[in-house]
Amino acid sequence: MDRPRITIFDTTLRDGEQSPGCSMNVQEKLRLAQQLDRLGVDVIEAGFPIASDGDFEAVQSISASLRRPIVAGLARACTGDVDRAWQALQGAAHPRIHVFLATSDIHLKYKLRITREKCLEQARETVRHAKSLCADVEFSPEDATRTDVAFLCQVVEAVIAVGATTVNIPDTVGYSMPEEYGNLIRTLREKVAGIDRVTISTHCHNDLGLAVANSLAGVQQGARQVECAINGIGERAGNASLEEIVMAMRVRPDRYPYETAIAGEHLYPSSQMLAEITRVPVQPNKAIIGRNAFAHEAGIHQDGMLKNPLTYEIMTPQSVGVPDSRLVLGKHSGRHALALRCEQLGHQFERRELDEIYRRFVVLADRIKKVQDSHLLELIQDVASGTVSSSDVTGRQGKKFPPAAATLPFPRAVSAAAGANANDSHPAQISGSAGQASVSIPFTDHHSEQEDYLWGV
Ligand code: KIV
Ligand code: ZN
Repeated sequence: MDRPRITIFDTTLRDGEQSPGCSMNVQEKLRLAQQLDRLGVDVIEAGFPIASDGDFEAVQSISASLRRPIVAGLARACTGDVDRAWQALQGAAHPRIHVFLATSDIHLKYKLRITREKCLEQARETVRHAKSLCADVEFSPEDATRTDVAFLCQVVEAVIAVGATTVNIPDTVGYSMPEEYGNLIRTLREKVAGIDRVTISTHCHNDLGLAVANSLAGVQQGARQVECAINGIGERAGNASLEEIVMAMRVRPDRYPYETAIAGEHLYPSSQMLAEITRVPVQPNKAIIGRNAFAHEAGIHQDGMLKNPLTYEIMTPQSVGVPDSRLVLGKHSGRHALALRCEQLGHQFERRELDEIYRRFVVLADRIKKVQDSHLLELIQDVASGTVSSSDVTGRQGKKFPPAAATLPFPRAVSAAAGANANDSHPAQISGSAGQASVSIPFTDHHSEQEDYLWGV
């Protein structure tokens, strides 16, 4: 039976970029957008064009550069914002105007100082205007989860009547509980005329740590688009984390029988690229892509891992693009291995660039036994900024590259079955079946593998 397809709407470049310390320039946004394209997201919210010239330019250049995904530009519910967003989206193959207007009484009274009637009218008229420009229009009633439900239904019905194609239900302040959020989506489906003609979307913030749970509850009640961000970045405590949403559906299809078009092996490189661009590191225990997500320290866990990785892992590192521990980068490594590791760290190079990286890599590898990811990232950055000559093996600020010590997580057993297809679900989900029986434990020399387990920084 075909599983319902969930549209992944990535807002790393808009809501994510609004989080403290995460602002990006146009070039950085374009680079990340290209990675999001490789990752397979369906919609890229590229920015808020009226907010600044930089945001406008970013939306413009992403629109011109990407052909496959929908590119969305955000606009407040007023003509000027919509026109500016539309202008920025001109080059897009699949443009979307995303209009938002707060609907909760607290926002209407204190922030916007307008009545519910005025709010209804403004939402309707702005969406009508957006629709006259662009076939694909999304509307978000900001602070939907604190909005009077009858009024929310009225607004949603009004925007659908004038052509909205996606209705997004933001839990703007991360206040909702999963059951409550799911019920809200169900109520909208039951009460709003025309709701079957549009896509219902979730947009959940993480103030109570429930953004992913709320999004999944929304999907279970019929939402078919999820708004989320790489590494869960976003206003305050962040947005629902893209990697967690996708992998929850992939690891637990028994509970969440939905499909996405995400290429799992690009999750970790995307996370790394974002962390590198923003210089905001990922917390080590972050689910799916954190440094410790596949590390095993306790003796009992290590013992279990040695016997069968299914004892303590519910997905393979490969399925989310975590580098293969057995691929050691040293002076005997070739360009191919180097290119692959660069890619896993979120860097793709053309032939000539790779030659230069390789030349410097060999000089470095000649002096230190193993080149770890941290070394490689430093080297890439230094090559990009032209600060290291090929004969100089000191890093930035004259820092010596540290020796490649075995300080990294425990080695993993990777079964032939589990590793065969990076997109496959982990056999844990069919435990006791033939899938599990085929798992092998290829630890031959785990002491050396232990040293070889290379992680990103
Ligand atoms: O959190 C929110 O309400 C938003 C809207 C602009 C969609 O980010
Ligand atoms: Zn938001």
